[in-house]
Amino acid sequence: MDSTRLLRRREKSLGVGAELFYSQPIQLVRGQGAHVFDETGRRYVDFYNNVPAVGHGNAYVADAISLQQRTLNVNSRYLHEGVVAYAERLAALHCPNIESFIFSCSGTEANDVAIQMARMATGKRGVLCSNAAYHGNSDLVGRFTNVGRTQPESEEVRSFPFPDLYRPITVGLGEEELADAYLETIRKAIARFETSGVGLAGMLVCSIFANEGMPNLPGHFMARAAAMVRDAGGLVIADEVQAGFGRTGHWWGYEATGFQPDIVTLGKPMGNGVPVSATGASRGLIERFRSKTDHFNTFASSPLQAAAGMAVLDVIERDELLDNVRRIGRFLKDGLDQLVVGNQHLGDVRGRGLFLVVEVVTDRESRTPDPGRAAAMPDRLKELGVLTAPAGAYKTLVKVRPPLVLTTDDAASFLKAFEVARNDVCG
Ligand SMILES: Cc1ncc(COP(=O)(O)O)c(C=O)c1O
Repeated sequence: MDSTRLLRRREKSLGVGAELFYSQPIQLVRGQGAHVFDETGRRYVDFYNNVPAVGHGNAYVADAISLQQRTLNVNSRYLHEGVVAYAERLAALHCPNIESFIFSCSGTEANDVAIQMARMATGKRGVLCSNAAYHGNSDLVGRFTNVGRTQPESEEVRSFPFPDLYRPITVGLGEEELADAYLETIRKAIARFETSGVGLAGMLVCSIFANEGMPNLPGHFMARAAAMVRDAGGLVIADEVQAGFGRTGHWWGYEATGFQPDIVTLGKPMGNGVPVSATGASRGLIERFRSKTDHFNTFASSPLQAAAGMAVLDVIERDELLDNVRRIGRFLKDGLDQLVVGNQHLGDVRGRGLFLVVEVVTDRESRTPDPGRAAAMPDRLKELGVLTAPAGAYKTLVKVRPPLVLTTDDAASFLKAFEVARNDVCG
């Protein structure tokens, strides 16, 4: 189908405003591994999509889904061995206090459950988040988007500036002192919850601050923030929707940033495209939530979700993808580090495993965000056969977040394309 005509039909059928990547959008018809193909048969290396974590068109996952759908798929009000076995396997992969799960169909729903759970457990309403967070799009969870930046704080939702070594809230401090400065903002926000009588239910935070822009964190920030929240009687909710399932080279982002959550939320790559998400916590927290809500979600906790989720875990373990993430992530990071040396507009490369970002700035000294160039980089990379997109709190990051099955050849072709795009856009 001709892309111009398809775009017109899309505008009518989905409405203008349904977001598309790139100034010249691409039409995709097929995917395999870390590659996707457009309507002309042109191949692109996918350096953006984390949902097909074990690869586009993964046959093992597709077969498991297909077999389950042909065998049985029902709602959660029946005993099913596959669902129980999946929850048990997830628990075994987490820190010991994450024992039981409530399944949902999106990251938004998983976070919605987590926020309700924290409020029920503590009897308090106040929830703390970072000021450049995104945790989902419902009425409740949408209240945690960019709080204190594009959305005002409220009685029940307060934010703290996301910790960042690249653009710190106070310049000239050592790492420990800078961590203290950020922790002080958390302490103040907690105090405001207490003063207003709302009280602290908890903190909801992406374990690696993915949407904020994958900042490098000052000295033990996460462990110290988690301790501060717990000391004040709150619960720590780790949003693992982007960070989880091996993305950082660890199973969970909280392992990479060094803290233990009371509640975790999982999503995106969990079913390699089948909508499955979960909220995990201690058995006590989960049972308290269940006893107070009669919670039910039609498509969730189904044999189909469990089959997809199990198959994804099988592939991650069978193909040793955590090792792959660490090895190829290191190769990419080293390559990018070399490519930004001496370039005025490429200020920083950071990240973990197969989640890297390159910061695009007007100049290295001022570190002023340059969203124009940052948008031009993915456009140029797309022309060169590599898919990325701009991201981060200032929309100045080239976000590099490929499927976990990426090969060394894919990574090498990315670095070649990046060098050309760098010369053309940031030269
Ligand atoms: C960290 C994080 N949490 C939650 C969500 C929401 O997930 P979903 O779009 O599946 O509702 C997102 C989506 O981008 C996310 O990045």
